[in-house]
Amino acid sequence: MATGMLHTHYLMVVLFTLIYLVKTILLLSDRNELLEKFKKKTKVAEMIVSFGFLATGIFLMTQLPSINMFHIIKISLVLFSIPLAVIGFKNKNKILASLSFFLIIVSFSLAYKAKEMKTGSKTLALTGKEIFEEKCSLCHGNDGKLGLSGAKNLAITTLNHQGIIEIITNGKNAMASYKNTLSAEQIESVTSYIETDLKGK
Ligand code: HEC
Repeated sequence: MATGMLHTHYLMVVLFTLIYLVKTILLLSDRNELLEKFKKKTKVAEMIVSFGFLATGIFLMTQLPSINMFHIIKISLVLFSIPLAVIGFKNKNKILASLSFFLIIVSFSLAYKAKEMKTGSKTLALTGKEIFEEKCSLCHGNDGKLGLSGAKNLAITTLNHQGIIEIITNGKNAMASYKNTLSAEQIESVTSYIETDLKGK
């Protein structure tokens, strides 16, 4: 349900932007007659799209687990750009109309940036188990006992916390260093996973 809504929202946003892009270009290039024609032709479409854009946006907002700074700035920019656009196009004020279009574009890039940050922090929050199964089980096996290419059996390791961190960070013989692929936090969480779920099992 929420994904379908998200796609509808994207579609509405794209259509909305396209209509505004054409209108802004026509206004800026003084094609007033064409602008009036275009406005008349797209009047109903624009009403539907604007309504859909806001309605899906509001629905998606109610589905958010939490509202952060990005959302607030994004919504303020969109809400602020609407009266600017209305006044700008009514008075054929090029500056206001361009400003409004600019604000819409800025709010999209913010939305995009916010999404990027969310996926970034998701990788960070990958649990030790997931990291282990993705990066380590190739040689060690999901249970730590596989021993491929000389990998040590992690169920019987005698290394302490610091010793495990050391090996993951710097590597040893056939095992590569994970200094550059995993963050200190991720190494910490995979180490805890080895100690609680593999060692001694
Ligand atoms: C390419 C195969 C390979 C991969 C992938 C690999 N290891 Fe290893 N691992 C080894 C080998 C080989 C050793 C034994 C090194 C030695 O002592 O000569 C080892 C040793 C270890 C040890 C030391 C065990 C002991 O008791 O001495 C730990 C801990 C360890 N690996 C954890 C990991 C973790 C965590 C990952 C994933 C982030 C990982 N390994 C990925 C091959 C691998």
